[in-house]
Amino acid sequence: DSAKGEVTYCQGKDTSGNAHYMIDEFNKKYGPDLKAKLVEFPASADEQRNQFIQRQQAKSGDCDVFSSDVIWTAEFASQKWLYDMTPYMEDKKADYIEAPVETVTYDGKIWGVPETSDAGLLYYNTDKVKEIPATWQEVYSTAQKEGGIVYQGAAYEGLTCDFLELFFGAGGEVLSEDGTKSTFAEGDAGVKALSFMVDGIKNGAAPKAVTTYMEPESLTAFQTGKYAYMRNWPYAYALNKKAEKVKGNFDVGPQPTFEGGEKAGILGGHNSVISVYSKNPGGALKLIDHIGSPEIQTAYAAQFSLSPVKAAVYDDPKVQEAIPFANALREGITNARARPVSPVYPQISQAIYKNVNAALSGQQSPEDAMKQAQSDIEKALSTF
Ligand code: GLC
Repeated sequence: DSAKGEVTYCQGKDTSGNAHYMIDEFNKKYGPDLKAKLVEFPASADEQRNQFIQRQQAKSGDCDVFSSDVIWTAEFASQKWLYDMTPYMEDKKADYIEAPVETVTYDGKIWGVPETSDAGLLYYNTDKVKEIPATWQEVYSTAQKEGGIVYQGAAYEGLTCDFLELFFGAGGEVLSEDGTKSTFAEGDAGVKALSFMVDGIKNGAAPKAVTTYMEPESLTAFQTGKYAYMRNWPYAYALNKKAEKVKGNFDVGPQPTFEGGEKAGILGGHNSVISVYSKNPGGALKLIDHIGSPEIQTAYAAQFSLSPVKAAVYDDPKVQEAIPFANALREGITNARARPVSPVYPQISQAIYKNVNAALSGQQSPEDAMKQAQSDIEKALSTF
């Protein structure tokens, strides 16, 4: 409570503007004695991780609080880069949806505080299609006729998410139940899901350029009004509402199933973590309190369409009005599937996105890409 001085918050590019808003509100409330500063890293998840790792390896106090992707907890905690936040979370835990709390729990401890959640959604242009079909197969065949689908197909974390949605939907698993073996290329789910995506590019359901798209490029493409569908996260809703060519003619809903399979949305999101090298851990804690406050959590949802991590926020009338799909979103997040939990998850993911991207860009057959990914995952597992 007596924290003073400066506290730095690091995150990826503030595409939505929510981080600027949150920092401004903090400074209005606590300045000038306690002030927060924003440092923006590149938009790509992989780049954000690299930037944080460089600082932690140098034991630098540059980032007091880092907005850590849900997939990095195991790695950062086992590197001993984060404060143990278990005591802080003890009396707050019950307010949070369980899935986001699980993403920041590792080895029996809680290593940060959920900030925003995420679930992959399907956006559509209502001038071209009237609703989301029941299966991905129908989405692609409509897309082929009505302008196409865009998604995140570049070789980075986003492609792992987009691929796993289809792969899990087709019945695939990345690791064995005990996490010690890769099952990625077992059975036919992988080749089925990957051939489906490769064919989509070949037959024009998706433009070839998706193999270079991350979230910002897919959003820009959809906002030209040319495409029928876009796979993206909830943040795109608030930005589409402001985009000239789609603001009046788009809608969004949960993803369909892969023919014959189950729904398999991927759980995303970010947690606030405190660096053990922070020179102002008290200030960092104040900032985390602020991010979790009802005012900020409601603004994140109502103004920036970011998925709340606390169940009650979804019921707020302001949130219900600003994001009409709030109930579907809460359900999506509660049921979404997590990516594999492992200290070497980034290497596992790289094995997936590199090989999937090679297949999408025609450099490798789906069969070879799956086999290569499986062996790259085995290699990653053997390093710890
Ligand atoms: C979103 C998700 C995050 C995911 C990333 C992939 O930011 O919240 O979990 O890893 O997209 O690009």
